[in-house]
Parts: sequence; structure tokens; C-alpha cells
Amino acid sequence: MKKTILFIASLFAFILLISARFNNRPNEINTKEALGKKLFSEKILSRDSSVSCASCHIPSFAFADTVAFSIGIGGVATDRNTPSVLNMKNRPYFFWDGRASSLEEQALMPIKNPDEMGLPIADAVNRLNKNPTYRQLFKKIFNQPVTEKNLAAAFAAFEKTLETVDSKFDDWSNNINNLSASEERGRLLFIGSKAKCFDCHFMEDFTDDAFKNIGLFNGQDLNDSGRILISRSKDDLGKFKTPGLRNVAVTAPYMHNGMFATLEDVIEYYNEPSRFVSNAENTDKALSKPLGLTQREKKDLVAFLKTLTDKKYYRTK
Ligand code: HEC
Ligand code: HEC
Repeated sequence: MKKTILFIASLFAFILLISARFNNRPNEINTKEALGKKLFSEKILSRDSSVSCASCHIPSFAFADTVAFSIGIGGVATDRNTPSVLNMKNRPYFFWDGRASSLEEQALMPIKNPDEMGLPIADAVNRLNKNPTYRQLFKKIFNQPVTEKNLAAAFAAFEKTLETVDSKFDDWSNNINNLSASEERGRLLFIGSKAKCFDCHFMEDFTDDAFKNIGLFNGQDLNDSGRILISRSKDDLGKFKTPGLRNVAVTAPYMHNGMFATLEDVIEYYNEPSRFVSNAENTDKALSKPLGLTQREKKDLVAFLKTLTDKKYYRTK
């Protein structure tokens, strides 16, 4: 009898423990980071409570979307492709045109953006203050009611936890394993002077954190003029932020306008941009001539790009 009671009691304790692990319950949220994570999936931050950050930045797709343009409130499509928000901690600015210069500044912009979440920040703050769970959480964590500032701080704190440095490439750089022959050839091409990827995609997250024009502006069918809209400098026509390439295998489609569906298409493009876009303006000099990659070299580059996927995002096919 005693044994049975003991068994039932320990089973109960075990179930409690398991459910505590899997439920993001308010009493287990004790940090800015954890609060930011909860807010990231919070739909009451959109005008009609239909959309959260995670609707477009889908966690299982490396926090990017799977379509060229995402759908915000009222079914309106975004003007640009939704980028991943992984590995943002060391970026000096945000958005394809760099119009935000900190994660704190960035976080409130999608909430008020009429095509994304469409809710004035004062209303968002009000809604959270009226919600007993959030009121209690902000009191516990910030010792304050919800404000614009602590709301932004919670989002930024969460996003700064989203660093991914556990890929096959990282294992290779830490001497834990080898790349396959094809991946290694791809790596050498990537950093070499034939493919020139490394001119722009370098440093630990494979971005120079600069604005470059790879030839996707012609003022006709491709008319997003990019960085110039913010800097007003003629030089910046058609330039976009060089995106980091970690997890790029799971963030299709690609580019600011989502015009390429696969990594193979991206490589075909770089190999000979003029086959895809005519009359491109202000293209970077690195891309002024076709690269002349062989079929095998194209495959090798794709194989290398796939080694940048964090193990969290490995899929079993
Ligand atoms: C309707 C879809 C949608 C929603 C909802 C949304 N985003 Fe985004 N997000 C985008 C798009 C599209 C861009 C790129 C826009 C641009 O560059 O002009 C972007 C860009 C970003 C960036 C910059 C990434 C980079 O590479 O510079 C961050 C960070 C981000 N969003 C975080 C958030 C947060 C936090 C929320 C919720 C408060 C949110 N987003 C809600 C679509 C969305
Ligand atoms: C002159 C700088 C430059 C060079 C050289 C360059 N890139 Fe890029 N790359 C960029 C910029 C800028 C973008 C975004 C362009 C846009 O959206 O209009 C980009 C976008 C990409 C994307 C899409 C990422 C996403 O999230 O949408 C991939 C993949 C990529 N580059 C891989 C490569 C590879 C592989 C090479 C070498 C063959 C290369 N790049 C060479 C600057 C460069």
C-alpha cells in the first residue's frame, strides 16, 4: 500500500515537472529574455489580435518566413521579404535598408507598421497594462508597469539570445569534424577570387554589415531603391544590407524581394546576373563580369552554404 502511494506520488511529481518544462507559465517567466520570448508570439500586439512577430518570423524556419512577402493584419502583404532574426546581436543596424540602429529601436516598428501589426504603441502598452498576466510579469521583471521602453527592452533581450553557432561549419572551424570533399571545394570557392562571395559575406556571421548593390534594381520591374531611401545619397541606389548567411538553407525564398526560390537559383544569379536582370543600375564592381562557374562548382557552393545550418534546424527528410 505504502509503495503504491509512493509510486503514485512520484508519478504525479514527475508529470508536474514535465508540464512545468513545457508550459511557458507566467510564474516561470523571470527574465527579460523569457518575457520577450512570450511577447514574440503575442497576437494582442496587433490591431485585430491576428498576427504576432512569430507569424512572419517563424521559429521553425530560422525565424524567417517561407513566402516572398508575408501577410500582416487585414491580409496586406509586406513590401519586402521577411529576414531571419537569428544572429542579430552583433549587427549595427536592422532592416534591408538599415533604417533602425538597435534592436530596441527596431522592435516597436513592426507593431505600429500599418501593413504588419497596425497598433499604435500607446495602445499596445495599454493593452498589456490591462492584461493581469503581463501587468504582473512587467512588475516582477522591471518593477514597473509596461512602458514603451521596457517593452522594447524585453524584445531586444530575447532576440539577443538567438545566436546560432552550432553548425557543421562551426564544428569544422573548431577542428571537430571535416567537411565533405564537395563542401570543402565550396568553402574554397566561397572565400576565393573566382566566386568572390567573401568580398561581402565575411566575419563570423558571413556579413560585412555594409550596404551593397548586387544588381537587383533597374528602376523598371525591380524598383525598390533600398538604402538611398534612408541615406538620400545617390551612391546608395539599389543597395541593401548584406544579409548574414547562417541558416540560409532554411530561409528561402531569398533577397529583399524574395525573387529566388532556392539556393541553386541564387548561385545561377551570381554566376551571370545579366541573364536574370536587364539594365541593372549601380551594380557592385565585384559582379560586373560573369563568374564562369562550372556545374560542379555551383553544386559545391550550395553544399558549402548548407554547412552553415545550425543543428537545431536540421530536418529529417
Ligand atoms: C507581417 C510580417 C511581420 C511581422 C508581424 C513582424 N515582422 Fe519583423 N520583419 C518583417 C519584414 C518584411 C522585415 C524586413 C522589412 C524591411 O527590411 O524593410 C522585417 C524585419 C525585422 C527585423 C530586422 C532583421 C534584419 O535582418 O535587419 C527584425 C529584428 C524584426 N523584423 C523583428 C520583428 C519583431 C520583434 C516583430 C514583432 C514585434 C516583428 N518583426 C514583426 C516582417 C514582419
Ligand atoms: C558585392 C557584395 C556581395 C557579393 C560579392 C556577394 N553577395 Fe550575396 N548578398 C549581398 C547582398 C547585398 C545581398 C542582398 C541583396 C538584395 O536583397 O538585393 C545578398 C544576398 C545573398 C543571399 C540571400 C540571403 C537571404 O537571406 O535572402 C545569398 C544566399 C547570398 N547572397 C550568397 C552569396 C554567394 C554564395 C556569393 C558568392 C557567389 C555572394 N553572395 C556574393 C552581397 C554580396
